[in-house]
Amino acid sequence: MDMLKQRIREEATVVSAGVLKLDSLLNHGVDPVLTMELGKEFARRFAERPITKVITIESSGIPVAFATALTLGVPLVFARRKKTLLNEPDAYCERVPSFTKGIVTDLLVSRHLLGPEDSVLFIDDIIANGDAARGLLKIIEQSGARLEGIGIVLEKSFQAGGKALRELGFQVESLVKIASLEGNEITFAED
Ligand code: G4P
Ligand code: NA
Ligand code: NA
Repeated sequence: MDMLKQRIREEATVVSAGVLKLDSLLNHGVDPVLTMELGKEFARRFAERPITKVITIESSGIPVAFATALTLGVPLVFARRKKTLLNEPDAYCERVPSFTKGIVTDLLVSRHLLGPEDSVLFIDDIIANGDAARGLLKIIEQSGARLEGIGIVLEKSFQAGGKALRELGFQVESLVKIASLEGNEITFAED
């Protein structure tokens, strides 16, 4: 994904301790042409899998997950993030900490939208420690759906999230890996 690396070099800034600001591409603005290319790349990497649905987490995962779902010809479901959850009997729920926001939120997916008949591809924008991803995995497990693979636009490989998911045995495809943000320099991993 040289095109994506190039855009990250041009547009990303390192804000603080291991956090990358990528507002023009992932977290605030969306380039529809680039996003479609990312979606096509995920569809290509998981082409052998019998995927019935793409799943992501609101909000920054949605554009690239949509592009992937459109290319695969399947529906998209995004987990909602809520601050407090009193009682939601019609939804699968998991509590997760948030790396950038420093708060705890609940992930929620309606029972009507995910079930044992589904084989899902989980797509997300960034993986850091993997807390949100692990929460979504628990929701998929609760639903009885099968997880076919995980596609991440940007893996911060100096944090443990991607590695932990691979150790669970899942196919994890990251389009770019960032090995270090030391000294406010973006250093890409070799592969
Ligand atoms: P994790 O899944 O890998 O643990 O990530 P975590 O829960 O820590 O991430 C929580 C949020 O922080 C996610 O967005 C994730 O995309 C974002 N995040 C993690 N590292 C970075 C980073 O270096 N730069 C930026 N810009 N974001 C980062 P979210 O809370 O789901 O919010 P949203 O952006 O999707 O609305
Ligand atoms: Na996200
Ligand atoms: Na985010």
